[in-house]
Amino acid sequence: MKKYIYICVSAALLVALASCGGETKTPTTTDITTTEMPEIIEPIVVTTSAPTTEITTETTPVETTTETTTVTTTVTTAEATTTETTTVTTATTPETTVTTAQTTTATTTKEPEVTYSAPVASVLPGEYTYGGAPTIETIDGFTYVNGILIANKTYSMPDTFDPGYLNPDAYAAFEQMKSAAANDGITLKIISGYRSYSHQTRTYNRYVSRDGQAAADRYSARPGHSEHQTGLAMDINSLEQSFGETPEGIWLAEHCAEYGFIIRYPKEKEVETGFMYEPWHIRYLGKDIAAAVKGSGLCLEEYLGITSVYQN
Ligand code: DAL
Ligand code: ZN
Repeated sequence: MKKYIYICVSAALLVALASCGGETKTPTTTDITTTEMPEIIEPIVVTTSAPTTEITTETTPVETTTETTTVTTTVTTAEATTTETTTVTTATTPETTVTTAQTTTATTTKEPEVTYSAPVASVLPGEYTYGGAPTIETIDGFTYVNGILIANKTYSMPDTFDPGYLNPDAYAAFEQMKSAAANDGITLKIISGYRSYSHQTRTYNRYVSRDGQAAADRYSARPGHSEHQTGLAMDINSLEQSFGETPEGIWLAEHCAEYGFIIRYPKEKEVETGFMYEPWHIRYLGKDIAAAVKGSGLCLEEYLGITSVYQN
């Protein structure tokens, strides 16, 4: 029995020693991993879903209604035809209405036709004289002073005189001058040529309505008194007095006499001519007389010794 107890106790001691670390245990890899990892951080999983694009394919085309309205306004004067075209486009869809307007303007300047045979001469043949008392002749309602046809505030023209066009000699002279100017890089253009009695009536009345008669009389001739009715006068390029300072205005003043023209209403001669300075208004006299007037440094009224004053 004692032997049995001894065996049992020994066995128990052996078991106890074995289980209580009585031997050095070598850590396994598994153990290190488990005990030395400070913390196991679960990875953050970011899930990005693939972008979803909703593509809607219109199977029904958007209905667009387009309405276009075109209005054309044509203004015709003796000098030019101006056409203004306004196009209004309205595009309408179920959601929107878009209106756009576009205006274009086109101006066509009429070149005077050279078909008119003037019944009135700029200068009567053989009658031109200079100096001394002026010889004033009235022929069929036209006034010639020393043989030169005059239309100013003192001397008028019949309201029936309506040739319709510029005097052909004057127009041909202008064409020559225009070509010569072009060779010098200067562009000359007639912006007002022949004006009938009725045209001048409308023009003058319009200015009187706008500025009053006293002011209008300084720059616009009363019907029957305008040189434009003679067919011998033209307005060139611009109706601004500053035109006289432009290369074109300077060229015109320097060279127009070579082609038979004078600047009819020079600066500071309003008392004599009756009209304000008009660097654009030229009058055809023919080369000899134009050169003589220019050479004199006088305006035409001074040169001829006549007045330019309305009777009333
Ligand atoms: N402007 C000039 C004077 C005319 O009306 O004839
Ligand atoms: Zn003029």
